[in-house]
Amino acid sequence: MMLGLFLPIQSGGWTASTLPRSTTWTFDYNAALARQAEDFGFDIVFGLAQWLPKGGYNEVQDGQALDSFMTVAALAAVTSRILLISTVHVLYGPWHPLHFAKFGATLDHISKGRWGVNVVTGHRAVEHEMFGWPRIEHDRRYELADEFLGVVQHLWAADENFSYTGESWRLKDGYITPKPLFGRPILVNATGSDAGIEFAARHSDIVFISSPTGTEFETAMAALPAHVTKVKAAANGRDIKTIINPLVILAETDTAAESYADAIVAQSQPTGFHAGKFHSDAHAWAERKNFDKDRQRGLGGGNIQIIGGPEKIAASIARLKAAGIDGVQLSFFDFAPDLALFGKTVLPLLKARGLRL
Ligand SMILES: Cc1cc2nc3c(=O)[nH]c(=O)nc-3n(C[C@H](O)[C@H](O)[C@H](O)COP(=O)(O)O)c2cc1C
Repeated sequence: MMLGLFLPIQSGGWTASTLPRSTTWTFDYNAALARQAEDFGFDIVFGLAQWLPKGGYNEVQDGQALDSFMTVAALAAVTSRILLISTVHVLYGPWHPLHFAKFGATLDHISKGRWGVNVVTGHRAVEHEMFGWPRIEHDRRYELADEFLGVVQHLWAADENFSYTGESWRLKDGYITPKPLFGRPILVNATGSDAGIEFAARHSDIVFISSPTGTEFETAMAALPAHVTKVKAAANGRDIKTIINPLVILAETDTAAESYADAIVAQSQPTGFHAGKFHSDAHAWAERKNFDKDRQRGLGGGNIQIIGGPEKIAASIARLKAAGIDGVQLSFFDFAPDLALFGKTVLPLLKARGLRL
């Protein structure tokens, strides 16, 4: 089972609660987390990308966020083994494929083949508008990203100058060298839609999936095996890995973890990450618009939630593996102490279950 850490490079992480905690978006905090994850033998650290107007979502998730591309790139210098994945909105700007190919190849060399990219197209209207146009239609975004990434991949592979006149991008005698070390960097996309899954089938090594049925664990488990089968089948025999993001609420015992969750919820803000303040057309979180339990809304983040003591968390991760999922990309409420407790108490149980070496 791959283990990833979803870094809180944005204020409030994934949970809009004022319950006191150490979590901050600062580089030093995130660098320490990345090093801790690496010491625990995690495989991946991952940063999201967001563009929010002044004030952000709420008082806690107030919009302060480091840029994902640069932050994760900088982590290459302070880590040595872990895979580093940046999220990039490839349609914003717009980026030119030549820039992207060159920057990616550079990071690939700096990190010695450890850099990968989560290619996203932007699901919030407010973000596209910030860049100066109305939000591009959902499936059209994937067509544009497909063209973009096709050119980028060509540049990473081509031994000769490359000229191209497409719908959205043009190059004359484009060339980049050095080439990426191992063919190309790891490609990821995060999606729940058919168009996004088709895009993943063409390009991605890893698909960051979400629960089609919401955040509650048992409800999610009812739908995830079929969803994973669908994603893998779309790849037509190409090996695509799937990862999912559980928000882990961990304490020494199940009872203490339930109390921890209650305390987080008791101090939650009404307009969290997914509460609809800024319109999104993402299919991936369709169910989140219909939260049926206050507690789920209060915990907010995480595509699914796992609440419990070490045994329960390990058993839940084992169930995700049995559902066909290849990795978990963990987020926590209070990242530093919660990750430390996870390393001390859950990791040995995952090893005992044969899920980790
Ligand atoms: C697990 C997960 C993580 C995501 N991370 C980001 C992100 O960091 N930034 C972003 O703009 N969109 C992110 N997205 C949104 C997707 O990139 C995509 O825009 C959205 O899900 C709409 O596409 P879909 O309808 O194909 O799901 C994420 C989606 C998922 C499922």
